[in-house]
Amino acid sequence: MSRLERSASTPMRRTKQRGPSWRETLVERQAELWEQVREVGEQQRTNLSERATYILGDAIQWLAELPPNSIHAVVTDPPYGLIEYEDKDHDKLKKGKGGVWRIPPSFDGANRKPLPRFTVLSQDEIAGLYNFFGALAYGLQRALVPGGHIFIASNPLLSTMTFHAFQRAGLEKRGELIRLVQTLRGGDRPKGAEKEFSDVSVMARSCWEPWGIFRKPFEGTAAENLRRWGTGGLRRISDDEPFKDVITCSPTRGREKEIAPHPSLKPQRFMRQVVRGALPLGIGIVFDPFAGSGSTLAAAEAVGYHAIGTDRDMGYFGLAREAFGPLSTLPVGER
Ligand SMILES: C[S@@+](CC[C@H](N)C(=O)[O-])C[C@H]1O[C@@H](n2cnc3c(N)ncnc32)[C@H](O)[C@@H]1O
Repeated sequence: MSRLERSASTPMRRTKQRGPSWRETLVERQAELWEQVREVGEQQRTNLSERATYILGDAIQWLAELPPNSIHAVVTDPPYGLIEYEDKDHDKLKKGKGGVWRIPPSFDGANRKPLPRFTVLSQDEIAGLYNFFGALAYGLQRALVPGGHIFIASNPLLSTMTFHAFQRAGLEKRGELIRLVQTLRGGDRPKGAEKEFSDVSVMARSCWEPWGIFRKPFEGTAAENLRRWGTGGLRRISDDEPFKDVITCSPTRGREKEIAPHPSLKPQRFMRQVVRGALPLGIGIVFDPFAGSGSTLAAAEAVGYHAIGTDRDMGYFGLAREAFGPLSTLPVGER
């Protein structure tokens, strides 16, 4: 064998001897896990793509069926507070008649989006909500791998309660992500006395949306956890830019709402940034317990991640099937 031939064959021999790197092992393990996770449970489901599955069923029930340590991140926008997606109030939303939903009048010929009126929740309903978030947090704590992150949408009226339920379940609070968004919530003059108190707002116009950031605790260092589970940190935007906790993103509009007419649709421009940040190495499975129109799953597809979602509403299950392709390929603008 000539010297050239010998040197050409050397790296090959080395590769064979060294065994898989931790990254290769993670990728292999994640591929096996993905095939198992998307089959868990008897619920009806649809594979939206090779990398995305949507399950028609109750989030907490499905979580209980999932083996421990089987998902790597959670990005979700839950029902606040609970009753708005219960049959009675959801029917009212569909019929365009009140209940917990504030159906705003059409404005300049454009129909504004119905918003849930969280201020109508009674103390009992808030306590019920606290229990619901507690059950969700315990389920997620079990299903996440150590170091797995959760991003959970909230609102300034109820976030203290939600976040406390998560901390009580043993999840570490790692901060809050603020979505700067001009909403139509708050800022109104006193009802029935608008002229008399023309310079008063009953409460501040809400211009931001808090998202709780939580992490399942782990032992050892972040570096060790990253090698073992692929989790423990957040993916940087670039070499120069870390993941940041303020993102400006206006409400979902126009084409996106036509594609996915869900009353709580979150915009792709925002969701893609959050979902991407949730897996530090880009390896793993993202779960959305309250998948709605499938916006988290579509964002995961757009950034090349695996994702699974549950939602108990048959209508949204059908909607996500239609919306997934167009949402995941939607070009997103600047704001
Ligand atoms: C705020 S919406 C999420 C919308 C989603 N972010 C989107 O962009 O389409 C909450 C969703 O949770 C669903 N939901 C409510 N309770 C649920 C439960 N126990 N299990 C699964 N889904 C539930 C509702 O049907 C609703 O679609």
